[in-house]
Amino acid sequence: MSAGILGVGKFIPERVVTNFDLEKKMDTSDEWIRTRTGIQERRIADEKTNTSDMAFAAAKDAIKNAGIRATDLDMILVATVTPDQPFPSMACMLQDRLGAGHVAAMDISAACSGCIYGMITAKQFIDSGVYKHVLVVGVEKLSKITNWEDRTTAVLFGDAAAAVVLGPVSEGRGIISWELGSDGSGGKNLYQDGPFIKMNGREVFKFAVRQMGESAVHVVEKAGLKKEDIDFLIPHQANIRIMEASRERLGIPEEKMIKSIHKYGNTSSSSIPLALADAVEEGRIKEDDLIVMVGFGGGLTWGALTLRWGR
Ligand code: UT7
Repeated sequence: MSAGILGVGKFIPERVVTNFDLEKKMDTSDEWIRTRTGIQERRIADEKTNTSDMAFAAAKDAIKNAGIRATDLDMILVATVTPDQPFPSMACMLQDRLGAGHVAAMDISAACSGCIYGMITAKQFIDSGVYKHVLVVGVEKLSKITNWEDRTTAVLFGDAAAAVVLGPVSEGRGIISWELGSDGSGGKNLYQDGPFIKMNGREVFKFAVRQMGESAVHVVEKAGLKKEDIDFLIPHQANIRIMEASRERLGIPEEKMIKSIHKYGNTSSSSIPLALADAVEEGRIKEDDLIVMVGFGGGLTWGALTLRWGR
């Protein structure tokens, strides 16, 4: 038995903020944002909705879709850089709100790579037979650390949560290969300084183009697969130009890349599971499809995996 995804869930705040709305607040334009990033609109959570509320909603959805109960969970992992508070962890808050057993629960700080880190951590416990069901949530309320005076970052981010339940799946399905990495020397290019996100966009862009492409190619090779075997690529939804570069590096056609950046912006740790949740909901992903997921983020961190869909 190998670890695979049993169910996916999501929560997106109701409030839509379009590029045209941002034009009214700062010196930017829909044209600049669309052509440089691929973003058209993003969701912004209201004051009352905190990170833990979004995580709870997405987790409930994923547990339901996995066909299990919260009491069946053996571990809870939450990837976030925008927790309600530094501690207690979002994972512990979820354990209580979900009514899960007194199981292992912790947060993961790997920025936009957080959900890949979470899924690969979950896989170790499932493959070893120690745990059966692990919940991994990617959640961000980035709007609370966004400097709305800084157009170079404010136009990029959105709020959302998405979750997956991992568990044992049949032979040949589930996570086949993976890679995780970090390079702290690049941490200065993307970090939180006081209350706000700070970023050297060009440096992060260069790193992302190189690393996403390389990691995606690595995991496909590690799995002993060819580019023709890939049905879908789900890259971290940070910038359409970065996403396109990784697709081209993999050498797969446009229709095989799953995109949701236009409607959500960059939602950091939730972006990959959120794109997956939409694709599953739309019926795009079929049994035995081969999916490549690849992310990069603050740290700097990166992670990639290949997964054969189905239980
Ligand atoms: O999850 C990981 C998070 N981070 C990322 O993924 C970010 C990676 N980097 C990027 O996506 C891109 O670097 C950005 C989208 C952030 C910026 O795109 P760029 O093509 O690298 O633009 P740039 O920083 O080179 O700026 C070009 C121009 C500058 O003006 P000048 O110096 O040429 O006159 C900027 O001041 O665009 C200006 N600019 C803007 N103009 C209108 C920067 N932000 C904006 C804006 N609206 N929002």
